[in-house]
Amino acid sequence: MVERIAIIGAGISGLLACKYTLSKGLTPIVFESQDEVGGVWTKTIRTTKLQTPKSLYQFSDFPWPPSLVQNFPTQNQVLEYIQSYARHHALLSHIKLNTRVVSVSYDGPPEEEMRTWTLWGGTGKPFGPKGKWKVTVQDTGSLRTEVHRVDFVIMCAGKYSDSPNIPEFPPDKGPEVFQGKVIHSMDYSAMDNASAAKLIQGNRVAVVGFQKSGMDISMECSSANGIKQPCTLLYRTEHWNMPDFLPWGVPWLISIKIASLSSWFISLRWGVSKFVESHIKKKLRLAKHGMVPKHSFFKELNSCSMATVPEGFFDRVEEGSIILKKAERFSFCSQGILIDSETEPLKIDLLVLATGFKGAHKLKAAFTSPTFRDLMDKDTRLPLYRECIHPRIPQLAFIGVSESIANLFTSEMTCRWLAELLDGTFKLPSITEMEKDVCQWNNYMKQSLGESYNRSCLGAAQIWYNDQLCKDMGWKPHRKKGPFRELFEPYGLMDYA
Ligand SMILES: Cc1cc2nc3c(=O)[nH]c(=O)nc-3n(C[C@H](O)[C@H](O)[C@H](O)COP(=O)(O)OP(=O)(O)OC[C@H]3O[C@@H](n4cnc5c(N)ncnc54)[C@H](O)[C@@H]3O)c2cc1C
Ligand SMILES: NC(=O)c1ccc[n+]([C@@H]2O[C@H](COP(=O)([O-])OP(=O)(O)OC[C@H]3O[C@@H](n4cnc5c(N)ncnc54)[C@H](OP(=O)(O)O)[C@@H]3O)[C@@H](O)[C@H]2O)c1
Repeated sequence: MVERIAIIGAGISGLLACKYTLSKGLTPIVFESQDEVGGVWTKTIRTTKLQTPKSLYQFSDFPWPPSLVQNFPTQNQVLEYIQSYARHHALLSHIKLNTRVVSVSYDGPPEEEMRTWTLWGGTGKPFGPKGKWKVTVQDTGSLRTEVHRVDFVIMCAGKYSDSPNIPEFPPDKGPEVFQGKVIHSMDYSAMDNASAAKLIQGNRVAVVGFQKSGMDISMECSSANGIKQPCTLLYRTEHWNMPDFLPWGVPWLISIKIASLSSWFISLRWGVSKFVESHIKKKLRLAKHGMVPKHSFFKELNSCSMATVPEGFFDRVEEGSIILKKAERFSFCSQGILIDSETEPLKIDLLVLATGFKGAHKLKAAFTSPTFRDLMDKDTRLPLYRECIHPRIPQLAFIGVSESIANLFTSEMTCRWLAELLDGTFKLPSITEMEKDVCQWNNYMKQSLGESYNRSCLGAAQIWYNDQLCKDMGWKPHRKKGPFRELFEPYGLMDYA
């Protein structure tokens, strides 16, 4: 029997899922709503670069071209690399571009029967004898829809597009009362470079959010308008954003390796955290700018909320072309925005909300079944076993939900695990055991993150996570030659090639 697999999305996760399912003799069909593959890398703001060292953001069987010397390639270079990967593995013939998945619905036993299952899908096997998924797709040009019946669905729809996180405001205090313009960073990224520059040029601009999009857009704004028309960046939380990858001269990956080893030893973890914090504080002069975070670097790492600071960002703050303003809360008035702790409005023409995305919301919305949507709604982190499958949603997997220091690393490792599961290399434990595992993992993350606990992130536990996948697949988890290298040498995808 030919098992048909629908893959939703052709970013790095969808391409990897396609490659690995093909390698097991399965028949994937990838639906991609855009007109090219590459996901978020197809369109970003002009100055975007890879913020992860490229050795960690590398397909295990397809190294970066040796001619590319930069450690942090530009958006175009990353896109070209991803698209070359798709061509190299002849994936394009399996991908339907300009095809949006509008819904997925499970056509199987009644819900009452499914509730009694003790094993995933009733049998513990990935392909259920009784059930199929109906995937409804729409051609983005003609708007014609068609339904595909498949044996398994892999959701690779990404978290950082389509579903912006827009703050809520009380009645008469939202964007509707403002005479200027309000956009989300997603709209800004979607603009061509000339239109984006025109939007900013000569205007009074404020940006909300002190993470990567917020910092990058503020930099573009300050380059365009200088100190004559400074850009105001509004933030509510100070962050340990990284100035470079050499804390006190120690290669970043070694610090991360030690931080990950120290996950379970509080005093070592504290030491590593303080070591990195002292470097960031000094290099970025955080105390002078009142930007020293209240939480530890370890929390930042474990919540995947750390970004790299664009070069020269704090120089722009010192010259006055970027103004940093703490705003726990704000609302709108006709001339601009009112910050809760201030009496005068900040008069602006344009507000850019670099306030992130509601990625999980987008993934839940694809399900027609309210029961499946509710199952995904239990927590801010999606409750997935091995960050990949929901114990009570049969014949379906997610890739790319969980983040890490290098998302490609996590997506490829999870894809390899999934391909082995689909191939029957190992069996899943019972639903109850999987739920217990998900719960323990969530409790650990809640304890270690406190109020920062909000998104699916492996953080410093990447190697521990890989170890679990390796054990399931029957692979040796320790991949280094000798205990010294095991302790101190950073892990990358090549260690699992
Ligand atoms: C600007 C930017 C820079 C980043 N930089 C880094 C970095 O330096 N390092 C790092 O580790 N991570 C980075 N990330 C995180 C990034 O999201 C991941 O690294 C990775 O590219 C995600 O790949 P993905 O395939 O999981 O998702 P995406 O790249 O989002 O791909 C999802 C694909 O699914 C398609 N899709 C969505 N819904 C549907 C649907 N209903 N029907 C059909 N198709 C659909 C989308 O069009 C898209 O092509 C960055 C993210 C952004 C936004
Ligand atoms: N490689 C690159 O160059 C690049 C460029 C852009 C984006 N990215 C990646 O893309 C992903 C998304 O990044 P992002 O910067 O768009 O989003 P993000 O990391 O989710 O950051 C959102 C920011 O908005 C703030 N915020 C959210 N809701 C708010 C509210 N109601 N009021 C005030 N502030 C609010 C958050 O503040 P709190 O911290 O207080 O929650 C945070 O500072 C990340 O993985 C990032 O690394 C990478």
